[in-house]
Amino acid sequence: MERTTLFHIFAAVLFLYNLPACLSRTSPNITTDQSALLALKSSVTLPPDHILVNNWTTTTPSSVCDWVGVTCGKLHGRVAALDLSNMGIIGTIPPHLGNLSFLVLLNITNNGFHGDLPEELVNIRRLQYMDVQFNKFSGQIPQWFGGFPNLVYLNVGNNSFSDSIPQDFGNLQKLKVLNMKFNQFTGFIPRIIFNMSLLELLNLKGNSLSGNLPANMCNHLPNLKFLDLSLNELEGQFPPGLQECSNLQVLSLLHNQFMGHIPSEIGNLTMLEKLYLGFNSLEGEIPNEFTNLVNLEILDLQSANLTGCIPSFLFNMSSLQWIELPYNNFFGSLPMNICPRPLLRVLVMAGNKVSGNIPTEIGNCTALTVIDLHENNFTGTIPEEFATIGYIAPEYGHEGLVSTNCDIYSFGIMMMEIFTRKKPTDEMFTSDLSLKRWVSEALVNGVTQAIDSRLIRQEEEHYFAEASCVSSIFELALNCTEESPENRINIKDALALLQKIRLEFQAKLSEN
Ligand SMILES: *[C@@H]1O[C@H](CO)[C@@H](O)[C@H](O)[C@H]1NC(C)=O
Ligand SMILES: *[C@@H]1O[C@H](CO)[C@@H](O)[C@H](O)[C@H]1NC(C)=O
Ligand SMILES: *[C@@H]1O[C@H](CO)[C@@H](O)[C@H](O)[C@H]1NC(C)=O
Ligand SMILES: *[C@@H]1O[C@H](CO)[C@@H](O)[C@H](O)[C@H]1NC(C)=O
Ligand SMILES: *[C@@H]1O[C@H](CO)[C@@H](O)[C@H](O)[C@H]1NC(C)=O
Ligand SMILES: *[C@@H]1O[C@H](CO)[C@@H](O)[C@H](O)[C@H]1NC(C)=O
Ligand SMILES: *[C@@H]1O[C@H](CO)[C@@H](O)[C@H](O)[C@H]1NC(C)=O
Ligand SMILES: *[C@@H]1O[C@H](CO)[C@@H](O)[C@H](O)[C@H]1NC(C)=O
Ligand SMILES: *[C@@H]1O[C@H](CO)[C@@H](O)[C@H](O)[C@H]1NC(C)=O
Ligand SMILES: *[C@@H]1O[C@H](CO)[C@@H](O)[C@H](O)[C@H]1NC(C)=O
Ligand SMILES: *[C@@H]1O[C@H](CO)[C@@H](O)[C@H](O)[C@H]1NC(C)=O
Ligand SMILES: *[C@@H]1O[C@H](CO)[C@@H](O)[C@H](O)[C@H]1NC(C)=O
Repeated sequence: MERTTLFHIFAAVLFLYNLPACLSRTSPNITTDQSALLALKSSVTLPPDHILVNNWTTTTPSSVCDWVGVTCGKLHGRVAALDLSNMGIIGTIPPHLGNLSFLVLLNITNNGFHGDLPEELVNIRRLQYMDVQFNKFSGQIPQWFGGFPNLVYLNVGNNSFSDSIPQDFGNLQKLKVLNMKFNQFTGFIPRIIFNMSLLELLNLKGNSLSGNLPANMCNHLPNLKFLDLSLNELEGQFPPGLQECSNLQVLSLLHNQFMGHIPSEIGNLTMLEKLYLGFNSLEGEIPNEFTNLVNLEILDLQSANLTGCIPSFLFNMSSLQWIELPYNNFFGSLPMNICPRPLLRVLVMAGNKVSGNIPTEIGNCTALTVIDLHENNFTGTIPEEFATIGYIAPEYGHEGLVSTNCDIYSFGIMMMEIFTRKKPTDEMFTSDLSLKRWVSEALVNGVTQAIDSRLIRQEEEHYFAEASCVSSIFELALNCTEESPENRINIKDALALLQKIRLEFQAKLSEN
C-alpha cells in the first residue's frame, strides 16, 4: 500500500472516531452572542445611570437583538452590527467578543477603551468594518490583524498604538479604508500596504514613521483618492511614478523631511483637489505641469525652500482658491490681472522676495478673505482696493494655519495698514515713530487723524459709529502687535472680537 493511501485511511479513521463528538457539539447561536455581549458589559465600568446598565440585561424577556447598539441579521438572526460609538464606555475588550461570528460591523469609536485588542477577534471572519478610532488602545498592531479576509474598513486612528507596523501585517486584499493616524507608530511603512489594490483612503498622519517612500508605490493603488502621510519623519525624494495614483484627490506630505524637486508627474494627477507639500526641504520651482491641475482647490507649499518666479498661471487655474506659499524663496511680481476669475479666497505669500506693486486689480479678487504678503519686497502704496476686501475668514483659524503669535502680529500690522493706508516703511515714520506708536498716539489724541481720510470723513452721517468702530479695531491691532508674544491676544479671540466690533457697528448704523 502506498504511503499516501495509508495516510488517507488513517485520516478517515481519525475523522470517524471524532464523529460522535462532532455531532453532539453545539453550534453557536444567539445565546453565544448574548454571552459575548455580557462579557463585554462586565469588562467595562459604567456609571449607574449609563444606558447599557438596564438595557443590556437578561431579566426582561427581550432578545439581545433589541439591546441598544445591537443590530441582528434578518436571515440568520445573529448579531451583525455592534455600534457603541460615543457612549463614554471605559474598559477593555474581552476575548469573548471573537465569538460574534456573524458580526460585520464593529464600531466603538470615541470611548475610553484601553489595553490591547484580543487575538480572538480574528475569528470574526465576516467582519468588514472595524472602527476603534478615538480610544486609548496601546501596544503593537499584531500580525493577526492581517487575517480578516473580508475587512473593507479599518480605523485605529487617535489611539496609542506603538512600535513598528509589522511588515507582513495586512493580507487585507479587500481593504478600502486604512486609517492609522495619530498613534505612535515607528519604523518603515510596510510595503504590503502599497499592494492593497482596492485602497481608496490611506491615512498615516501624525506618527513617527521613517524611511523613503518606495519607487512606484502607486503602481498597485489605482483607486487611491486620499493619501495623508503628513507629520512623520519620512525622507528622501518624492518617489517616481506618482502619476499612477490617477484618482488621487487629496495628497498631503506636509511636515516630513522630503527633499529634492517636486516631480512634474504630480501635474498628471488631474483629479487632485488638495495638495499639501509644505514643511519639507525641497528645492527648485513649482512645475509648469501644475497648470493641468484643473480641479485643484488648495495648494500648500509653505516653508518648503522652493524658488523661482511666482508662476502667473497659478492665478488663472480653473478651481484654485487657496494659494499658500509663505517662507520660500519666490521672486518676481504678482500678475497685473491677478484675479481673472474671482475664486481666490486665500493668498499667503509672506516671507518671500516678491517685488513690484500690489496691483490695484486686487479689487477683482472679490472672494478674497485672507491676504498675507508681509516680509516681501513690494514697492509703492497699498492699493485702496485692499480695504474693500475682507480681512480674515473664520475657517482660516479652524485650519490651524494662523495659530502662531507671529501670524497674529502681522495680522495686527495689516489691520493698521489697511485703516491708515500707511506702511511701516512709509517716509513719514522717522526712526522712533513707528506705525504702531503713531496708531497708539492717535487713540489718545483722536482716532480720525490716523485714519485714511478716504475711509472716513467728519461730515459723514455715520461718523461716530465709524470712528468708534475704527478705534476698537486699532485697540485690537495694538494688542495683536504687543512686543512680547504672551501679551498678544490669540487668533480665536481676535476673530471673535472683530466679529463683535462688526455687529456693534451694524447696530449703531441701524440706530441712526
Ligand atoms: C443555543 O444553544 C444552547 C446550547 O446548545 C441551547 O441551550 C439554547 O437553547 C440555544 N438557544 C437558542 C435561542 O436557540
Ligand atoms: C434598550 O434600548 C432599545 C433602544 O433604545 C429599546 O428599544 C429597548 O426597548 C431597550 N430595552 C430595554 C430592556 O430597556
Ligand atoms: C466564547 O469565547 C470565550 C473566550 O474566547 C470562550 O471561553 C467561550 O467558551 C466561547 N464560547 C461561548 C459559547 O461563549
Ligand atoms: C462609527 O460611528 C461614528 C459615530 O457615530 C461614525 O461617524 C462612523 O462613520 C462610524 N464608522 C463606521 C465604519 O460606520
Ligand atoms: C487626534 O489626535 C490629534 C493629535 O494628538 C489631536 O490634535 C486631535 O485633536 C485628536 N482628535 C480628537 C477628536 O481627539
Ligand atoms: C505586490 O504585488 C505584486 C503583484 O501582485 C507582487 O509581485 C509583489 O511581490 C507584492 N509585493 C509585496 C510587498 O507583497
Ligand atoms: C503626463 O502629463 C504630460 C503633460 O504634462 C503628458 O505629456 C504625459 O503623457 C502624461 N503622462 C501620463 C502617464 O498621463
Ligand atoms: C534650499 O535650496 C537650496 C538650493 O535651491 C539649497 O542650496 C539649500 O541647501 C536648501 N536648504 C535647505 C534647508 O534644504
Ligand atoms: C486664463 O486661462 C484661460 C484658459 O483657461 C485663457 O484663455 C486666458 O487667457 C487666461 N488668462 C490669463 C490672464 O492668463
Ligand atoms: C479687474 O480690474 C480692472 C481694473 O480695476 C477692471 O478694469 C476690470 O474690468 C476688472 N476685471 C474683472 C473681470 O472684474
Ligand atoms: C528689493 O527692492 C529694492 C528696491 O527696488 C532693490 O534695490 C533690492 O535689490 C530688492 N531686494 C531683493 C532681495 O530683491
Ligand atoms: C490683549 O488681549 C488679551 C486677551 O483679551 C489680554 O489677555 C491681554 O492682556 C491684552 N494685552 C494687552 C497688552 O492689553
